Amino acid sequence: MPRQLFVTTALPYANGHFHIGHIMEYIQADIWVRFQRMQGNQVHFVGADDAHGAPIMIAAEKAGKTPQQFVADIAAGRKPYLDGFHISFDHWSSTDSPENHALSKEIYLALRAAGLIAIKPVEQFFDPEKGMFLPDRFIKGECPKCGAKDQYGDSCEVCGAVYAPTELKNPFSALSGATPVMKTSDHYFFKLSDPRCGEFLQTWTQDGKLQPEVANKIKEWFTKDENGEGGLGDWDISRDAPYFGIEIPDAPGKYFYVWLDAPIGYLASLKSYFASGGPKERYGELRGFDEFIADPVVEQVHFIGKDITYFHTLFWPAMLHFSGRKTPNNVFVHGFLTVNNGEKMSKSRGTGLDPLKYLSLGMNPEWLRYYLAAKLNGRNEDIDFNADDFMARVNSDLIGKYINIASRAAGFISKRFGGALGEVSADGDALLDHLRTVAPSVIELLAEREYGKALRETMLLADRVNAYVDQNKPWELAKQDGMECRLHDVCTTCIEAFRVLTILLKPVLPALAAQVEAFLKVEPFTFASAQVMLGQGHAIGEYKHLMQRVDIKQLEALFEPPALTNQAQEATESVAPGGEELAPTITIDDFTKIDLRIALIVNCEAVEGSTKLLRLTLD
Ligand code: MSP
Ligand code: ZN
Repeated sequence: MPRQLFVTTALPYANGHFHIGHIMEYIQADIWVRFQRMQGNQVHFVGADDAHGAPIMIAAEKAGKTPQQFVADIAAGRKPYLDGFHISFDHWSSTDSPENHALSKEIYLALRAAGLIAIKPVEQFFDPEKGMFLPDRFIKGECPKCGAKDQYGDSCEVCGAVYAPTELKNPFSALSGATPVMKTSDHYFFKLSDPRCGEFLQTWTQDGKLQPEVANKIKEWFTKDENGEGGLGDWDISRDAPYFGIEIPDAPGKYFYVWLDAPIGYLASLKSYFASGGPKERYGELRGFDEFIADPVVEQVHFIGKDITYFHTLFWPAMLHFSGRKTPNNVFVHGFLTVNNGEKMSKSRGTGLDPLKYLSLGMNPEWLRYYLAAKLNGRNEDIDFNADDFMARVNSDLIGKYINIASRAAGFISKRFGGALGEVSADGDALLDHLRTVAPSVIELLAEREYGKALRETMLLADRVNAYVDQNKPWELAKQDGMECRLHDVCTTCIEAFRVLTILLKPVLPALAAQVEAFLKVEPFTFASAQVMLGQGHAIGEYKHLMQRVDIKQLEALFEPPALTNQAQEATESVAPGGEELAPTITIDDFTKIDLRIALIVNCEAVEGSTKLLRLTLD
């Protein structure tokens, strides 16, 4: 029986375009999904935009758009990234969909019926000018510890102190500049402190669904210290209007906090996929969403980054369980991607490697898939994209070891043997046998998301094949009289071996594998097909070069900052400004105070001794 899998990646905030960290997550999940499909399993792989929350509402307002329009514009830009990197989502939706509004309310009402919702007053900063409660990010002031000015409501960027926004000195609203006032309002809580929740989660998190290092970390979240502090606290799931979100039933003016409806978006996206008829078209799935999602046979799997573990391993399973639903079978947590030893990328901006720029430079998306896969393992460790390492790995492994096998053998098959494969003799058979014997262990590693190990094993196999090529030197056989048969035999062995390697690489290199399928004139590869040979007489097509090497110039262009003069660039590099947050938007009245003139800049140079000043010469 094929397995039935429902697979998701975290739903990206719809306040910006994808950055390379998102793409890494999608590549990790996509490789696993493609792997499962090659195993003959049924997979529904869905994503969605995480549309709600105060930051998006505020960003939309600044952009002069409704939040709906704002997130729709972001959503419209998703496709080139997903198609560009061969990410095979079946469906993409939004947490602002009608399905998600309905499901979120349904789940909330079930939790309420289970006695797990409480209402408690909460005192919070309120912006009297904007008429809204301020999220921590939008309150600024002086650090209570070191006195640094212009610090955020949760922590100080100068001394690192962590505090509550109410502790800031001279606080002001980052939205209006007004001094916030304390105001009380009723909030809705999910009673995670209820003993039922603790009991359920202690078991759920420790019974093999999670990676061991993740399960271990979670244990800390349950333990209370000697003062009875810590442990699971009730979770504040409401926000007051104005808020872009889903209104809470029977609570006018109250909305679900974005993290309540965001994971429900996984179900909602699947539901809208079912409504679109996709599963029926693909697998003849006749059941509706409700029946499918409740079926114990269906495996629900979430790929996420380590920063959102808490939401996915505590809140989310508890929400599902206590609303009478099936909980996830696995939550696979990955680490963070950094670029060229850079700092952890800012969640909203990302830095270093712009995925669309990568594509627009004509860089092959499968280089990146291969490189990231080679670095990924089943644990939640951080990985770094390093430009030199990237070029070395792609050029030496992918081109030097793997593609080379085909390019050294294929020409002879078409030129000398009319495109037909020949017989394989004992030494070739032994080599192919070795490949077929090792293949299951590579498949096992892919299943465990140990992509790095799987690719290392595959490249060891490629080394073996290359050793065979070097021993037999087809290019020399081709010049010798009476070696026609041996040449045919050696080249056939190479093509058969290349085919097995391609099958093992297919989840990582789907487009390349499709080219190879066309070149070998075969049906789409499955893992089962690795155990058989094409066989004598099988006609293959004309070999066309399958993949270029990485050119250092492309990498230089990729990491070149947007056009600056040399001097300005040096100044930029030595002081690295530009990381600061934007100041609050000014009003049109402030703007009209500015005496604005336009001139041609004829020269620009750094001012010695200053980290901020540039000397401009105007025409
Ligand atoms: N909207 C929430 C998720 C809701 S899921 C119901 C969110 N969005 S996000 O856009 O900030 O992040 C989306 C995913 O990208 C998360 O899994 C996050 O861990 C991942 N990454 C963000 N930056 C990353 C890297 N630098 N490296 C790898 N993954 C990273 O969180
Ligand atoms: Zn400070």
